[in-house]
Amino acid sequence: MFDLTPYNTFGLQVKSRDGVVITSVAELKRFHADSAIILGHGSDVLFTDDYDGSVLINQIQSLSVEKAEGDKFIVKAGSGLVLDDLIDSLIDKGIYGLENLSAIPGTVGAAPIQNVGAYGVEIGELIKSVVVYDLQRHIQEEFTKEMCQFEYRSSYFKKNKSRQLLITQVIFELSSTFNPKLSYKGLKEEKFSDAKALRSKVVELRNKKLPDPSLVGNAGSFFKNPIVSNDLADRLKAQYEDMPTYPAQEGMTKLAAGWLIEKAGCKGITHGNVGTWEHQSLVIVNRGNAKPHEVVALAKYVMAEVFNTFNVKLEPEVRTFDSKGEVSWDNL
Ligand code: EPU
Repeated sequence: MFDLTPYNTFGLQVKSRDGVVITSVAELKRFHADSAIILGHGSDVLFTDDYDGSVLINQIQSLSVEKAEGDKFIVKAGSGLVLDDLIDSLIDKGIYGLENLSAIPGTVGAAPIQNVGAYGVEIGELIKSVVVYDLQRHIQEEFTKEMCQFEYRSSYFKKNKSRQLLITQVIFELSSTFNPKLSYKGLKEEKFSDAKALRSKVVELRNKKLPDPSLVGNAGSFFKNPIVSNDLADRLKAQYEDMPTYPAQEGMTKLAAGWLIEKAGCKGITHGNVGTWEHQSLVIVNRGNAKPHEVVALAKYVMAEVFNTFNVKLEPEVRTFDSKGEVSWDNL
């Protein structure tokens, strides 16, 4: 058995049948398994049970930086690098664009799967392509940005669960010109002399609201911000004037899950060993010794309370695995 406790930031005490740490593409060529769960730091996963299969821990660490046209730089980052370390080292090299994503836990390879985003930037905006290793066909393939199908907290890699694709490298197109993106409410009013200053502010904002997984087990936002019809959003807005709304695709409006959860009376609650975070209610936290079934039960409770109050269905954002592999939340 392989202990997965250090490989899920929830800190749940779960195991898999076996586990292999991979540091190079050459090692992947020798890896044969019908199915395997691929993990970096496990910062966006929930294990509802022990996993009856193999887990690949991706620690492919390589980095190359090439000057391109004008002020552009092409950065080829190994998928096992820590995303925040990469951002920090690029700022030191005078290469900018990723600052708003500072302090997001997890690896470079995990980031495109969810199209991680924070403070007005989604990582897909800065990705040129993603190199994957197909564990079924044993070939490498490069996905252009278009092929990645980036959407809000989703991508080709998240939607095509049956394909065993291990992201080996993420290729970013960045710039040596500091062009701060300040659309997020808490950044708009500020002036930043350089990328380090913006990074510090983002880290400060994050630390105020989100628990540090090395201190309190969690997987970041447990739920996605729901995207509902303009009709429903308008009806809710008429009833709750202070409800935050964001534009989404044609005819739709994005709501703030954290706000809905708070108004439904579920902010900072504790059920057994789990709860919702006091400063940001869309984060489910391990209050010590949490069991997987407690996380599932609390999430279902929150979803039911939000549905009963607002008629809005919340969807979990974390990738969820049971004993057989990735599982859809509707089947839990
Ligand atoms: N709000 C509440 N109560 C709460 C939480 C939020 O009323 O408990 C309100 C806030 O006051 C604000 C609105 O809801 O008006 C939105 O809150 P916030 O700006 O904190 O962002 P979010 O939409 O809740 C998203 C991402 C976070 C990301 C932040 C900042 C999702 C699911 N989450 O949260 O991403 O850090 O924006 O950009 O989109 C993650 O994905 O793991 C994550 C932490």
